[in-house]
Amino acid sequence: MQISTTLTTTPVPDERLAEILASPGFGTHFTDHMFTTEWTPDRGWHEGRITPYGPLTLDPATAVLHYAQETFEGMKAYRHGDGSVWTFRPEANAQRMIRSSGRLAFPELPEGDFVGAVDALVTTDQRWVPDSAGEKSLYLRPFMIATEVFLGVRPARHVTFMVIASPAGAYFSKGIRPITLWLTTEYTRAGRGGMGAAKTGGNYASSLVAQQEATAQGCDQVVFLDAQEGRYVEELGGMNLYFVHADGRIVTPATGTILEGITRASVIEIAGKLGHQVEERRFSIDEWRDEVTSGEITEVFACGTAAVVTPVGSLKWDGGETPDVIDAGPVTLQVRQALVDIQYGRADDTFGWMHRVC
Ligand SMILES: Cc1ncc(COP(=O)(O)O)c(C=O)c1O
Repeated sequence: MQISTTLTTTPVPDERLAEILASPGFGTHFTDHMFTTEWTPDRGWHEGRITPYGPLTLDPATAVLHYAQETFEGMKAYRHGDGSVWTFRPEANAQRMIRSSGRLAFPELPEGDFVGAVDALVTTDQRWVPDSAGEKSLYLRPFMIATEVFLGVRPARHVTFMVIASPAGAYFSKGIRPITLWLTTEYTRAGRGGMGAAKTGGNYASSLVAQQEATAQGCDQVVFLDAQEGRYVEELGGMNLYFVHADGRIVTPATGTILEGITRASVIEIAGKLGHQVEERRFSIDEWRDEVTSGEITEVFACGTAAVVTPVGSLKWDGGETPDVIDAGPVTLQVRQALVDIQYGRADDTFGWMHRVC
């Protein structure tokens, strides 16, 4: 894909940028530019362009506003000690967007175009990638929306793909601490044949009320069970789960109705290399409750691009609570360290996961 570039004439001044990068938070500051390309049946993907970051003007009848035909991705760019900038497994995000797009009846954006678009934006806005101290990064948000102007339930014939970027601070600014979880028995995230494995806004809209319930119960995140039997652990609102057993085995819920996390897949490989047997299978809520209580499960952790790997403390439900598993256990910390060391270029990338951008 050819990409044209129009640079902003009003970039964020260096002094202001330094203030933002000192304490970026998450998802509140955006870089100077954005990437856009559009698709129509006759032209395919065309007019890839980097332009100054700014608002979109949409007709009120734009399809995405009514029928939520939308997919997105979440990934990060990391600055290494020598100043170079890298992304982590961008082709895996590209492939997941292709799978999400298939489920949402979108045209396919080829892997090379996806990675090229992300690279172009990161290269243009490279001064926005924080330095590697303190696990900061540049969060990248590629997304695809139905931009045909019409009312009616059918796939749009005008589609827009964009990438925006936002500097991100460390998820744990005050040191790694276990999160607490609320088990929702009222709400489910995904049914068989539904959109659970796709990264699409509707899944997150449907999780909001469950997350509100978790917050009201004093918990950090919500855990969803399968929709059919209400028995098997699926995932959190934005993270996948792992259960470390006393004998070294690690169990993680099988894919199907959960999001196929790229961190999840990477943790499976890292844990295997560290000598753990990893089982991807159905994992019931009773196993979780009973085995934490009996001591058979020694650590629980969650993982995702934003939080990397985070220890899980107690699980609470209507009428009970598991005992706290140990604070940030040794396996959790070892897996986490191995992953961030690769991402920040502090360890050999033996898996070939890192992609140099600039
Ligand atoms: C529902 C859900 N599960 C899992 C994940 C973790 O996926 P990844 O490791 O690719 O960030 C995410 C992250 O975006 C998510 O939204």
